[in-house]
Amino acid sequence: PEANIGVVGLAVMGANLARNLASREGNRVAVVNRSPERTRTLVDAHPEANFVPAESMAEFAASLTRPRTAIIMVQAGSATDAVIQELAAVFEPGDIIIDGGNAQFTDTIRREHEMRQRGLHFVGAGISGGEEGALNGPSIMPGGSDEAYATVGPIFESIAARADDGEPCVTHVGSDGSGHFVKMVHNGIEYADMQLIAESYDLLRRVGGLEPAEIADVFAEWNTGELDSYLIEITGEVLKQIDTRTGRPFVDVVLDQAGQKGTGTWTVQSALTLGTPISGIAEAVFARGLSSHPEQRLSGARLAGPSTSVELEDRDAFVEDVRQALYASKIVAYSQGFDVIRTAARQYGWRIDPSAIAKIWRAGCIIQARFLGRIADAYRADADLVALVTAPFFADATGRAQDSWRRVVSTAALAGVPAPGFGSSLAYYDGLRATRLPAALIQGQRDYFGAHTYRRVDGPGVFHTEWSGDRSETQISE
Ligand code: 6PG
Repeated sequence: PEANIGVVGLAVMGANLARNLASREGNRVAVVNRSPERTRTLVDAHPEANFVPAESMAEFAASLTRPRTAIIMVQAGSATDAVIQELAAVFEPGDIIIDGGNAQFTDTIRREHEMRQRGLHFVGAGISGGEEGALNGPSIMPGGSDEAYATVGPIFESIAARADDGEPCVTHVGSDGSGHFVKMVHNGIEYADMQLIAESYDLLRRVGGLEPAEIADVFAEWNTGELDSYLIEITGEVLKQIDTRTGRPFVDVVLDQAGQKGTGTWTVQSALTLGTPISGIAEAVFARGLSSHPEQRLSGARLAGPSTSVELEDRDAFVEDVRQALYASKIVAYSQGFDVIRTAARQYGWRIDPSAIAKIWRAGCIIQARFLGRIADAYRADADLVALVTAPFFADATGRAQDSWRRVVSTAALAGVPAPGFGSSLAYYDGLRATRLPAALIQGQRDYFGAHTYRRVDGPGVFHTEWSGDRSETQISE
């Protein structure tokens, strides 16, 4: 045996990860793929990587030093299960199987338990950064046993992106499905962030009257301040692009139906199960859904819009308002994302350090942004922070942004431009702020039609009012 690490599945992500691994001192990488032609193509194209190619799982296993360590990079779902079974058949107790795909975390929990029964380690590792990150340094979110992490940790550290302070963007997230859960929420936040940026663009264009190229400049400018992030940067690039066929802005020739592979939906499903409101992320998923129903939109095009148009008094002031609204809404999305991670950690018994998660998202991943350093600081200062948005730095930032935020949401409504991300984030913020919510009235309604009972503000006990009788109140229990 000569390889210390192996990669199974050599499509773009797998091939790039294998090349990244091979480029780091001390690694020798075994590679295998269902169709051996792909293995040969990769090996031939990259002699510098000095890969150890295998044509079967048995040959692959034989080429690995112990504990054998293999990263699976195939499609999530049944393809992953099939490869796990094949590996488990040729691996021996103590060996380590890593799933680097976007697996559903409940699958990872199941697989980890199954593999543990067979004496194998199973690590569910979220890997973010797309093709480019896989090649040059992704952000890695591994979940699994301490024992497995002792072996895989240094390998991951060797290939992970580095934050500005030089720290590798990988941490042992927690046990079993925790890594894939955190990666899933990363993607949920990614959806929210993208939606908020898209709403900003739409408002700047349809209300602000800016052209795509001008908006690209606005984003480039924003990218030098507190919004500094990979997604803002690439948005500017996309907006600058001119379609070679028509000479029109690229954004105008792309069909306006947003796709999704499922991780955003999973995030919202998990949050619903956990009872954690992640409304900003949910709106982003639903907005993609609405965009992808052309027949509904066609019939909706008949609906009336505002009878008066919005005239801006000061375009620059509006641009600044949108920037503030974007920043504040983004803080809410991250706050909700961290909230669902912390709730899940309690529910599934994971010891997750939110500060460490924020730190490994500072580089390599799709949502990498300057302000993640601030999030890490906030959780380091107070590990029990109940809502990120209430941490001093973020309370201050949203407090400064809120007047702009309110103007943008009301302007969007008056102009008839949909801004579900901005609107729901602001509603969440105001809901959190409210000392008294109309939930009291909902309790009254529930008690009226279903005797669902209520509690009182002035003392303990559970009560019911005889709504259909004399409307007297009875105490049901202590
Ligand atoms: C990443 C990305 C990556 C991918 C997702 C989202 O972290 O590198 O999140 O996982 O882009 O598959 O894609 P969809 O928008 O298709 O759901």
